[in-house]
Amino acid sequence: MSRIDPHSWCDSDQPRQRHLDLDLTVDFEARALSGTARIDLAAPAGGPLDLDGRDLAIDSVVDQAGAKIPWTVAQTEAVRGDRLRLDLPQGTESITVTYATASGALALGWLEPQQTAGGEHPFMFSQCQPIHARTMVPCQDTPRNRVTYDARITVPAPLRAVMSAASGGQQTEGGQTAWSFSMPQAIPTYLLALAVGNLEARDLGPRCRVYAEPETVEQAAWEFAETDGMITSAEKLFGPYEWDRFDMLVMPPAFPYGGMENPRLTFLTPTLLAGDRSQVNVVAHELAHSWTGNLVTNATMQDFWLNEGFTVYAERRILEEVYGRAFADLQSVVRRNALQVYLDKMGQGSPVSHLRTHLEGVDPDEVYSLVPYEKGAQFVQLLEDAVGLERFDAFLLQYIHTFRFQSITTDEFLAFLEEQLPGIYEQVRGPEWVDGPDMPDNEILVQAAAVDRLRDLAAGWSDGVRPDAETRAGWSSTEVQLYLQDLPRVIDEAGCRWLDETFALDGQGNYEVLVEWLTIAAGSAYAPALPRVRQVLTDMGRMKYLKPLYLALKNNEDTLAMARELFDAVKETYHPLSRASVEGMLLE
Ligand code: BES
Ligand code: ZN
Repeated sequence: MSRIDPHSWCDSDQPRQRHLDLDLTVDFEARALSGTARIDLAAPAGGPLDLDGRDLAIDSVVDQAGAKIPWTVAQTEAVRGDRLRLDLPQGTESITVTYATASGALALGWLEPQQTAGGEHPFMFSQCQPIHARTMVPCQDTPRNRVTYDARITVPAPLRAVMSAASGGQQTEGGQTAWSFSMPQAIPTYLLALAVGNLEARDLGPRCRVYAEPETVEQAAWEFAETDGMITSAEKLFGPYEWDRFDMLVMPPAFPYGGMENPRLTFLTPTLLAGDRSQVNVVAHELAHSWTGNLVTNATMQDFWLNEGFTVYAERRILEEVYGRAFADLQSVVRRNALQVYLDKMGQGSPVSHLRTHLEGVDPDEVYSLVPYEKGAQFVQLLEDAVGLERFDAFLLQYIHTFRFQSITTDEFLAFLEEQLPGIYEQVRGPEWVDGPDMPDNEILVQAAAVDRLRDLAAGWSDGVRPDAETRAGWSSTEVQLYLQDLPRVIDEAGCRWLDETFALDGQGNYEVLVEWLTIAAGSAYAPALPRVRQVLTDMGRMKYLKPLYLALKNNEDTLAMARELFDAVKETYHPLSRASVEGMLLE
């Protein structure tokens, strides 16, 4: 037996899946997908085969000839989920599982019509990363094994299904539409993705369009109009775009993340629709994953920094190319500040502040933080600095080319680094970064005059220093956000009122600024802002915003009761992942 991933039952001595063929019906009433998943093996095989599953209701398992295959749920673990053991007769080429998903399946979000922009139709979506594909499809749910897939998804007729795949047309019959898809490029199973809703599309370029509800599609098309140019810039930096299309789907507000890099169809939160294109960094980020993450993939969640660290670095390179250095630098500083919040919360010396982590028995969702992102990107930046841009660019191209459509461990990366750029790992004190805690003191801090000015201003807050109208006039939304990030976490009522009025914060449409403000306001129990806090926590499910807001409410005894009461009232509308993460925090 040889288990290669602490988050999967997959045994590398057993046969390997190569292709999935899904035929599923979406039942909004039952909140379930049901139908068949056919798993084609890389080669005909026999003997035991362990698949990942979680709470799947399995009806039958048969081989390519329709002969029954014996199966059991042989073991269940809290983090890994169910081990589905099949006993394959010799010569098995493919396995067809007839099953239904559980109503609480962690991958699936089911939204009532009132949670959508249109208010008329229900909506559903999947979020399989990191280890939730197994709640949607029985499979070897480890990124080490890639699959191509085909799918037929049957939905109520007025709705449209979209997937991380090429669309292959649709057929309507008897009030139901069956949508066909095929995904010719091999992907890790965490990139399986499906969404169903009342969707329209706008073309943004020859290989790029945005899907959204009709009510938001125009706004989305404006906000993301520059995406095609980003693809071109990214290709110059990282090599050809290998996924044919880069489409985007703007989700309802309950989507738990900012973005998810599902290949051919990035999922995005509607909180990016700020009206000023200030949140396009998330698009740059998800696009960058097309190279770092989707082409070169982490072998397990212990190597997650290879996905996110390289992607944040690549995101900044794209932003610099398209919007200039100053824009990219401000983003870096905002996120370095956000990383510090995580590090402070972990406490010094925390093992989850290492880039390479050890997650046997640990739920990757529970240890999610900005460490793999920002510490990872800093480490990559350090490598760039050590060898110079030209050599590093050549290294990056070689890295992506060598490992395209593969999944690698940190050790495999380090061996490649040593081979290509000998001695550099030691030179940048790599071991401290990869296997040590906190931020080593050789990190490169962004130097920018604009940032220093904001820091100085914020540092003078307690002495009564306030930026005057002229100073504030030229600030971008990101500069306002930075200023707020640097202010004390608890501010008296007069101070809160001054901020609120001066920056028109209550009416902010930019969520980055709004939530930064509301976190201060909630932590300060500033009563006039509490209705807005309540509204945001009711309307929106992005974890990045839910967590700090609930935490601020929880940490102040005047608002603790409000946090509990509000969460109880709205938790059923949250995606199961958002619900679990807030619940865990409120119980801490
Ligand atoms: N792949 C991640 C989202 C993710 C990570 C989902 C881990 C599940 C488990 C995605 O690329 C991401 O990082 N999104 C960020 C935005 C980015 C600009 C930092 C987000 O959602 O905030
Ligand atoms: Zn990412």
